[in-house]
Amino acid sequence: MQWLVPNPFAANAEAKPRAWKLSVAAHMWISYEITHTPQHVFSLVNPTLAELVGLRPALVVVDNVILDLYGSTLVPYITERLLCEALIGVEGSESHKSWEHVDRICGEAVRCGLRRDGVMIGVGGGTVLDCVGLAASLYRRGTRFIRIPTTLVGLVDVSVGIKQAINFKSKKNALGTFFPPYGCINDVTFLRTLPFRHLACGIAEILKMAMVRDAKLFDLVLANAPALLRTHFECPADAAAEILVRAESAMLDELQPNLFEHNLRRLVDFGHTFSPALEAASGYQLPHGEAVALDMLLSTSIAVECGMCRQQVLTQLLEAYLEVGLPIAHPLIEPGLVGSAMQDARAHRGGDLNLVLPMQIGQATFVQNVKTNTIVAAIDRMARVSERAVSRNGCSCR
Ligand SMILES: NC(=O)c1ccc[n+]([C@@H]2O[C@H](COP(=O)([O-])OP(=O)(O)OC[C@H]3O[C@@H](n4cnc5c(N)ncnc54)[C@H](O)[C@@H]3O)[C@@H](O)[C@H]2O)c1
Ligand SMILES: [Zn+2]
Repeated sequence: MQWLVPNPFAANAEAKPRAWKLSVAAHMWISYEITHTPQHVFSLVNPTLAELVGLRPALVVVDNVILDLYGSTLVPYITERLLCEALIGVEGSESHKSWEHVDRICGEAVRCGLRRDGVMIGVGGGTVLDCVGLAASLYRRGTRFIRIPTTLVGLVDVSVGIKQAINFKSKKNALGTFFPPYGCINDVTFLRTLPFRHLACGIAEILKMAMVRDAKLFDLVLANAPALLRTHFECPADAAAEILVRAESAMLDELQPNLFEHNLRRLVDFGHTFSPALEAASGYQLPHGEAVALDMLLSTSIAVECGMCRQQVLTQLLEAYLEVGLPIAHPLIEPGLVGSAMQDARAHRGGDLNLVLPMQIGQATFVQNVKTNTIVAAIDRMARVSERAVSRNGCSCR
């Protein structure tokens, strides 16, 4: 304790205590595991989830689509192997990543009297996991939270970090918390039912990591993407496993030293500067992964325009999109939206733009200013290169 006036309790003290200061310094130990389970997570003989939960009472929140598709294994598992207090189904979509959904989950926790030592288990894509994670971080000032992602974006991206957010007042991810999960269980068998469009969204997030730090990952995706899409990430099995491991570990390497984002220069923000504005402007009709893909294309075009990387990188990225059916153009990409997205990004990144631009595949850097005429030229270049690629390969853009 530090006295801001002479210590009033000293033997010769004359002053009354009026001002003092207490200092607090503490560390928070964070540790959790992302477990890839070899069997379906809800197979009755799979102990992974039951062992993680133990005897804690659980509130299970499941994407309605997953409840329809996997209810026949999920319901027996949570009834027989967990102490399940309640199970609720929620809509898994960007427009439902809202305060109303978080309110409903917290309401259910209150209704079933979930104990402080209980656990909330989220099963679904990124939108459901974000809502459950936020609810868990708020309920009783924090209740254990287990993630079970069911989309490719969920597996390679959401599962790794410690944050969750909802959209609020037309702003993407405007309200959220940093709250480490109790654990994550990654089960790739969920991908068997994931529609191609959402598999492609996951590939966009994988390409993000490839572009900023792993050129080998980029080659692996390019060589195997059509087969992986066709087989819902089952074949070729070795390539599927290597792609998932490389993408998740690259993400982990970037996030682990900066879990609370005290450093706002983050390579994982590649593709995440213009995409929030695109998603919001589309009324959340444009899926997150597609918005990220478009943002990466524009960012790469800006890098070419600035002379930081060769046009061939832009062409290679485009070719990868054509292989998996990611969009290569969108009418919402215009200088006005791009400019205001940069303003928002600055506000979010403490006053700096920190725009991530590739220098080559596997290597990226940060840029603090981009002139309006560069943006106009980059949008124009992106359109020209896209048109040329489409006339060479046939159109797959949406
Ligand atoms: N918290 C984080 O760190 C983090 C990281 C990345 C992305 N996100 C957020 O995640 C969201 C995107 O998540 P997403 O791409 O998983 O989309 P999503 O949650 O909207 O799911 C996509 C669609 O797939 C359906 N679905 C889910 N699993 C399925 C399955 N196995 N079979 C069939 N259908 C299935 C859903 O019902 C939905 O219709 C965005 O809001 C993004 O901001 C958060
Ligand atoms: Zn993302």
